[in-house]
Amino acid sequence: MKKLSVVVIYCLYFFCTHASAQIKNTITVKANQLVASVQPTMWGIFFEDINMGADGGIYAELIKNRSFEFYKPLMGWKILGKPQTEGDFVIQNRNQSNSNNPRFLRVTLHNNIKGSIGLNNEGFRSMGIKNGLRYDFSLMYRQPTGENIKMHIELIDAKGSGIGGTMLTTTATGKDWKKQSVSFNATSTEIKAKLNIWFEGNGMIDLDMISLFPSDTWKNRAGGMRADMIQLLADLKPGFIRFPGGCIVEGHDLSLRYQWKKTIGPVEERQLIINRWNHEFAHRPTPDYFQTFGLGFFEYFQLAEDIGAEPLPILNSGMACQFNTAEVVPLDLLDPYVQDALDLIEFANGAATTKWGKLRADMGHPGSFNLKLLGVGNENWGPQYIERLQIFQKAIKEKYPDIKLVTSSGTDPNGERFDYLNGELRKMNADIIDEHFYRRPEWFLENASRYDKYDRTGSKIFAGEYAAQSDKTASVKNQNNWQTAIAEAAFMTGMERNADVVVMSSYAPLFAHIDGWQWTPDMIWVDNLHSFGTPNYFTQKLFSTNKGTHVVPVLWNNEIIAGKDSLYASATIDKNTDEVIIKVVNTSAELKDRELFIDGVKKLNPKAVLTVLKGEQLQDTNSFSNPIAIQPIDQSIGLKGKKILLSISPYSFNVIKVKMIR
Ligand code: AHR
Repeated sequence: MKKLSVVVIYCLYFFCTHASAQIKNTITVKANQLVASVQPTMWGIFFEDINMGADGGIYAELIKNRSFEFYKPLMGWKILGKPQTEGDFVIQNRNQSNSNNPRFLRVTLHNNIKGSIGLNNEGFRSMGIKNGLRYDFSLMYRQPTGENIKMHIELIDAKGSGIGGTMLTTTATGKDWKKQSVSFNATSTEIKAKLNIWFEGNGMIDLDMISLFPSDTWKNRAGGMRADMIQLLADLKPGFIRFPGGCIVEGHDLSLRYQWKKTIGPVEERQLIINRWNHEFAHRPTPDYFQTFGLGFFEYFQLAEDIGAEPLPILNSGMACQFNTAEVVPLDLLDPYVQDALDLIEFANGAATTKWGKLRADMGHPGSFNLKLLGVGNENWGPQYIERLQIFQKAIKEKYPDIKLVTSSGTDPNGERFDYLNGELRKMNADIIDEHFYRRPEWFLENASRYDKYDRTGSKIFAGEYAAQSDKTASVKNQNNWQTAIAEAAFMTGMERNADVVVMSSYAPLFAHIDGWQWTPDMIWVDNLHSFGTPNYFTQKLFSTNKGTHVVPVLWNNEIIAGKDSLYASATIDKNTDEVIIKVVNTSAELKDRELFIDGVKKLNPKAVLTVLKGEQLQDTNSFSNPIAIQPIDQSIGLKGKKILLSISPYSFNVIKVKMIR
């Protein structure tokens, strides 16, 4: 009898502890409770010409200062050989007749032989050249009189040896400018190449818009974009692309604000300006950083269309950067700024019979770009912003009520400025409020349930710029390490869970050139030939390519999973593919065994795909030498009915995808 009761007690004990352990370790997904729709725009990209993102980056032009308009007209150029007389190479300025592109270079030759006199261009931190690839050289020239002049075009490697070239012969053009192009194949791969132009002949020649493009641009467009960099964007399947920034929208002062109308039409007529990041950071000066606008608003819209992203242009609100001059345009002079916004909508969407729609059609896109979103102001704050925004909002909503406006909540996700703007914007019934947070990884973890507390009605949220900073905001010591990426992943589960409030989000900045950056961390790093995604890139990619259509609850002990036991989770279903998609982040150093129970479905496929992104150490990074040290790895896992036994690796971000059987 005694023996029996011991057995019973033991059995009871075992049953109870085992059952309670089971309850404790079970994460439940309620796949039939649709909490919110996930907007197609949920995960997008933020593009700014910072860190040589455009010129020297995605804009594939290899010649730096091609039209001699930099502050120092010969910056990037060197004269080769010894000019015979003073003024054989002279910068001319025709500002009265061409204020957009005033300067050109006049070269005078005195029966020169090949190799005696020439020009060298250093490129943007040199040029990346690929063996066997075709390169397209072009220039604009004017040759009043004289014999034919020969130009010997020659790419050289870092040691000065030729790696491909060709010859171009000019003819007299009188007073007219002529464009001439010639192509050749490179004979070697070189990451630090330069270009020489050797002159041969006699007479005088005027030169402008000296250009060299690789032929392997994105979609093989002449004068196009660097394909490897754009491919990385396309692979994200982004919901939107925000352009052109960032602080460059505001400009150091109002004269240097981004003006979209100056970035369209023939490239040689687009007026260059100094890039705001040229001198912004005294510790990272980039004196040769300008915006040539070879990449302008037409190209941005085209890029958005190419990669299936909604275009989100941001326009100046009549305020220059408040960290710089903080200039504002008087309210009674705001009209041209507002008109720019109205005209932009017509440029993007208007029929080819309208003034601005015709311009778009003439540039090669007769159909609409289908613009639905427009930003007014970047990181602007104070009543000065609100009073200007109200004028924009009234004018835009009157003419285009369907356009959704993205508005600024300043530079920080909390504090007095934020509270003031947040309050005012909500009173104005703002469509979408843009929040920015550059914070330490700990902040991202502590704030993973930020949006659980948000008002479910009224304005929606665009987490428009965010990145975990391993040191401090914009510190040169910041690393794109796994600690930052996993913290962002944890935070993103909170955004996904609150997809009824957060309708868009984007990491920032996007690109950085290893020899030309001003700001770190950045999502994608490039040199002249290579590009790689950081762990932060793969975190973004896992969310955007596993988006789903509807949020469903994922609970542990009936509670959302936002930091308890270092776990963070969100779940969606995809109505198009009939999948349940669960994201679980483990920010601790311990392995966690959990049972995943998918409730509210009839039946599930017996196999699921588990994708794991993880680093061995929080300090781990990707690099040019090991670009995929941290990358997502897929594996197949079995289900027992509606249950999955999960071993959640230390420091890991896991995506589990399983098909529902109806
Ligand atoms: O992403 C870099 C900069 O950070 C952006 O230009 C600006 O909006 C923010 O301050």
